[in-house]
Amino acid sequence: MNKIQLAKDVYYVGVNDRRTDFFENHIQLPNGVSYNSYLIVDEKVALIDPVEVGFIGQFLANVRSILDGRSVDYLIVNHAEPDHSGSIALLQKEFPEMQVVGNAKTFAPLEAFYGELQNKKVVADSETLPLGQHTLQFFTAPMVHWPESMVTFETTTGILFSNDAFGGFGALNGSIFDDQVDLACYEDDMCRYYANIVGKVALPAQKAINRLSALGIKMIAPSHGLVWRSDLRWVTSRYLRWSGHQGEEGVVIAYGSMYGNTAAMAEIIARGVADAGVRNIRIYDVSRTETSFIISDIWKYKGVVLGACAHYGSMFPNMALLVHEIEHFKPQNKMYGLFGGMSWSGGGVSTLSKHATEAQWQLAADPVEVKGAPIREEDIDRLYALGHAIGEAVKKTEN
Ligand code: FEO
Repeated sequence: MNKIQLAKDVYYVGVNDRRTDFFENHIQLPNGVSYNSYLIVDEKVALIDPVEVGFIGQFLANVRSILDGRSVDYLIVNHAEPDHSGSIALLQKEFPEMQVVGNAKTFAPLEAFYGELQNKKVVADSETLPLGQHTLQFFTAPMVHWPESMVTFETTTGILFSNDAFGGFGALNGSIFDDQVDLACYEDDMCRYYANIVGKVALPAQKAINRLSALGIKMIAPSHGLVWRSDLRWVTSRYLRWSGHQGEEGVVIAYGSMYGNTAAMAEIIARGVADAGVRNIRIYDVSRTETSFIISDIWKYKGVVLGACAHYGSMFPNMALLVHEIEHFKPQNKMYGLFGGMSWSGGGVSTLSKHATEAQWQLAADPVEVKGAPIREEDIDRLYALGHAIGEAVKKTEN
């Protein structure tokens, strides 16, 4: 394998995962994911974040191809989640003298997962670790993404090893750096990663970004996705916008429909949104699109219209999953509307209303509930008006 170099003595040794269908066993991975790892070969050798255990063979081959017979002195564990930490026990067998470096909160989850670990080295916030020419400095970043999360800054090259922060879904297709790809094609994978992994902890992420901004960062090397070396502003501005809940002009219409009637209502609403002048309209059938994609666009855009047919006096089950995820991730500053079919009892729209009230979004128009199919002029007008109202509200709302 060609050596992939970030700077003098600093190498990429990560792996691509193109075989896992669901990240954390629930988030679809149509484009795969990368588990990034970095090796600094100096008077001391430091390996920064290992990889998911199923890729240990390729990972060790990558590491050994750089080491030229040397061993690893330090394994830096920025994050204990198993997609990174899973291979620690095997790495310790491979490099028995290696010290495992983490902060005061790192080892409790690690040992809960993998049993007692040897050669632990606990570092404090802002503590440095000299490697020779290079020096590592550690900064705790609680809840980005777990309580023990930290980032590591290499002071001579200005590289921030940011772990989950600034990461994205999608395996690396030969290109490792931001200037080697069309970033417009990458944005959806990155936003979906943000919304479903980091979005829940938007505030701590924003605090961490603000704190680290004084470091003079020249490169950001996350544990998933592209390494940012050319246009750091591209990625940091998006993180600040997303973590600040600043939605773009656009409307997401997500519906659950048993017989196609609520689906037909969504089409009428979308025409109202379009006639109000909104250009970004995303329509999702919750039975056909995995929730993480919908959450991503809800995070991205200002307007949300949720539609659910009734199901035994409540809402359509797949819509209940989406609502659960909205309550979990808490995207804010949304204009919203609700609609759905009554079946014989109603219940879809009223159940949605209860949850929407808890989300503290701003209602753009009264909910529309339709008996049977949307074939009567009056119902069609109400649905169109709902779409038009939310379209106008989104056009008017400023961040
Ligand atoms: Fe990529 Fe929170 O682990």
